[in-house]
Amino acid sequence: MLLRWTEDPSKFEGKKTITPPEIKFIQDELMDDFFIPVVESSGLSGEDGPTDEDMCLVEEMIGKIGDAENLIITDPARRPWNASCKDHAKRVAIVAREIADQLNFNPREFFIRGLVHDIGRYASHHPWIHAAAGKDILNQLGFSSKYCQTALNHAEAGALLFGATPGNWDKLSQDFNLLAEANKVSLADAVLAIADMCQKAVEDPPGSNNFKSRFADPMEGVFTSGLRRLTQKQKELVKNIDPLCIDHWGLREVYRTEPRIGMSLGLCWLLKAKLAKQGVVFEGVIERAEEALRGEKV
Ligand SMILES: [Fe+2]
Ligand SMILES: [Fe+2]
Repeated sequence: MLLRWTEDPSKFEGKKTITPPEIKFIQDELMDDFFIPVVESSGLSGEDGPTDEDMCLVEEMIGKIGDAENLIITDPARRPWNASCKDHAKRVAIVAREIADQLNFNPREFFIRGLVHDIGRYASHHPWIHAAAGKDILNQLGFSSKYCQTALNHAEAGALLFGATPGNWDKLSQDFNLLAEANKVSLADAVLAIADMCQKAVEDPPGSNNFKSRFADPMEGVFTSGLRRLTQKQKELVKNIDPLCIDHWGLREVYRTEPRIGMSLGLCWLLKAKLAKQGVVFEGVIERAEEALRGEKV
């Protein structure tokens, strides 16, 4: 699917974006000097499960994005791949592996999906642009389609999985039968979208790499993270909504006043419900991920 966006990306990023020639330079640098040697020596292009060595190779590869970007973009404030991106990728990888483990999915594969989900951030911080760029570069590198789809589909709480495109967010909240759409989402895509949202929710503020908030249930974190931007009255309204009740009047109030947050929360809830139905227990996921990160049990 070709994604098109009409908004100026710099409006979203709140800073001057890097130019298409700069993006191309970074991409060439990554492809020629950093990525190709890694991919050539791994089994990531095939359908066989990845090895422990592949996990290390991909982690190494993600670590090089900052190096390539620093070479080409001298002003740190302009770099879309900032200091927190590598850490975020690893944390999402660990959370994704925690959830995948409960579903008896291949934990190594999900660790790698987490590592690469934001690889497109070398080009832009913009949700739709980095998702499309990530899919493209993984495709060019010969990663198998599951990794490419992860990069594309994780953005905006998995909005693309529900049929959203940059131009039809409003339509998504009005016309779509979200429960029916949620049924069509693959469990693998749901795991990655939720792992990304869980991780963002414990960063305070989101994207800052300051991990202040701790939640027994990461979804509570997603909820609270979204709520930060609401007024006190709105917070009261939505405090006790049944997460699975997408049509609750209080949630509608959030949609009415903060459609973007309301929709992200709604999509998170639907994906969480989907995974919970398969037996995933969210309690303790973030704590175990933190422990794994401290002990480097990767
Ligand atoms: Fe992302
Ligand atoms: Fe992310």
